[in-house]
Amino acid sequence: MEKLYYGYNGNIKVGIFGSYEALSEAAAEFIAARMKAKPDIILGLATGSSPVGIYDALTRMYEAGELDFSAVRSFNLDEYYPLPPENDQSYRYFMNKNLFDRVNIDKANTRVPSGVAADVEKECAEYDAALAAAGGADVQVLGIGGNGHIGFNEPDGFFTAATHKVALTENTIKANARFFASEEEVPRFAVTMGMGAIMSAKSIVLVANGEAKAQAVASMLTGGVDPLCPASILQLHPDVNVFIDEPAAKLL
Ligand code: F6R
Repeated sequence: MEKLYYGYNGNIKVGIFGSYEALSEAAAEFIAARMKAKPDIILGLATGSSPVGIYDALTRMYEAGELDFSAVRSFNLDEYYPLPPENDQSYRYFMNKNLFDRVNIDKANTRVPSGVAADVEKECAEYDAALAAAGGADVQVLGIGGNGHIGFNEPDGFFTAATHKVALTENTIKANARFFASEEEVPRFAVTMGMGAIMSAKSIVLVANGEAKAQAVASMLTGGVDPLCPASILQLHPDVNVFIDEPAAKLL
């Protein structure tokens, strides 16, 4: 870690690393330490390109016999709507491929919001209830959108507490088009954990790399708490750990 920057209240620790591999390794070590201390940990997990390095590092630790996922339970942040779990663009598919199929986690203990629920409101209420019954996440992994979104909580005039169905912004559709054959194929909706579930996590691990995230990272840390930068709500969380590279830290 080359530099450590503290947010307003000392509640936000920011590590700036020399490479994506280094920040991913450090974030994975943070999570691994919590897993060793609490084998039946509740992990809040994210998809997208940012956490792939964490999942690779956790898999390596598992393969080296250092980590045991057998009692771990997980709740993912979000899922495209409508998209069935077997679709290779779904976030369920992503999690299976990038982590769950590579370690000894019991898939019955992993949850991703349903992208095909007929009654979306019921699905969202059940998701929040299950996470609350589990006591909230011990560690919540987050990426950040170039527009400051966390999960799919898009910039808006207010923060939304509950898990909910959301219309993706043009910015997010364009940003995520790289994962699809064409922009038209990107689903226009998603189901996302709201800020209530995210803020109920005991610790947050947020990873970001690349200059395209620099403005969002700066607004999150040094702008006011503003729903136009959804990640800025983390300024009110007691334990936020940000792992970024130098290009993402450019505006700090
Ligand atoms: C993914 C998620 C999103 C991403 C964000 C950054 O589950 O909730 O908020 O973390 O869009 O995506 P990447 O990492 O692909 O730049």
